[in-house]
Amino acid sequence: MFTDIERATEYIREKATPIVVKADGLAAGKGVVVASTEEEAVQAVRTLMTGRIFGDAGKRIVIEECLSGYEVSFLVFTDGKTIVPMPVSQDHKRVFDGDRGPNTGGMGAYSPVPTVSRELCDTMMAAIVEPAINGLEEEGCPYEGILYAGLMITSDGPKVLEFNCRFGDPEAQPLLMRLETDLVEIIEAVIDKRLEASAVRWSDKAAVCVVMASGGYPDQYQNGKVISGLEDTQALKDVVVFHAGTASDNGRIVTAGGRVLGVTALGNGIGEARARAYEAVNKISFEGMHYRKDIGKGAGVIHE
Ligand code: GLY
Repeated sequence: MFTDIERATEYIREKATPIVVKADGLAAGKGVVVASTEEEAVQAVRTLMTGRIFGDAGKRIVIEECLSGYEVSFLVFTDGKTIVPMPVSQDHKRVFDGDRGPNTGGMGAYSPVPTVSRELCDTMMAAIVEPAINGLEEEGCPYEGILYAGLMITSDGPKVLEFNCRFGDPEAQPLLMRLETDLVEIIEAVIDKRLEASAVRWSDKAAVCVVMASGGYPDQYQNGKVISGLEDTQALKDVVVFHAGTASDNGRIVTAGGRVLGVTALGNGIGEARARAYEAVNKISFEGMHYRKDIGKGAGVIHE
C-alpha cells in the first residue's frame, strides 16, 4: 500500500509487468488498472493519486501481482454464523466486446458459471469465505449481511481480488432473477440471526443481464436522454428491466447515469437467457446508448 507517488514508482520499477494498480477505496469499479508496461503502471499511479476523479479513494493505492485466470463473483448471505452461498456469477468489466477497452463498473453479468464446479464452490467457501467471516467474528467485528468475494480462478485455485460488503452490480440482477425465496425474508433472517433455519431456494434456470450505458461511459457522458421502448419489453416472458441510472422528467423516463438499464432475462441455459435479454435490448433506445453484444457468450470461458 502506498501514499507516496515516488515510493510507488520505485516499487513498480523493481517488479515485473504486467502489474495491477488499485485505488484503496470505492471508485465505482473504475479504480483498477492492469498495466502491461512499467510506463503504464507509473501513469496509473499518477492518475489515481493526483486526479481529482477518485477523491479520497486515490489517496492510498495498492500495487499487486497480476493474477491470470478468470474472474468470478462469489456472494453469500450471512448472519455472522450461518453462511448461505449464492450461485456463482461472472460480470464483464471491460466496456467493449471481446473484453477490450477500459474497465467499467460492469457491462453485464450472468449466472451460473458453467466452469465452476461444485468442488470449486466448496473450496471457495472453505478456503476463503468461511475464514473471512469467522475471522471477523473472532476479532469482535461480526459481519452480517451480504459478502461479495471477487475471486480469480487461477491454475493454483481461487485467489481473492477483493471483498465488497454489498451485492455486485450487475451481478445482483441475474442472481435476483434466480432467487425464488423472498429477499425480504432472507434479510429478516439475517437480522434476527436465524439464517440456519431458513431455506434459500434458487431457480435452476440461467440468467443474463445486459447493461445499456450512456454514450461516452465509462468516461464523460450526458444525462437527460429520453428512453423509448421500455413499454414494449413488458410483454416479454421472464424479462426484467432494472433501472440503474434513470429519472422521471415530465412523464418521460430519461437517462441519469453512466449505466442506465440492466436488461435481464431468465432462460433454460445461458443461450436462451441471452437471446431473451437481447430481444428486450433491441426494443429499447436512447441517444448515444451502447452495450456489449457478447454478454454470456462463451459463458465461463474467460473474462479476465
Ligand atoms: N460488478 C462489480 C462490482 O459490483 O463490484
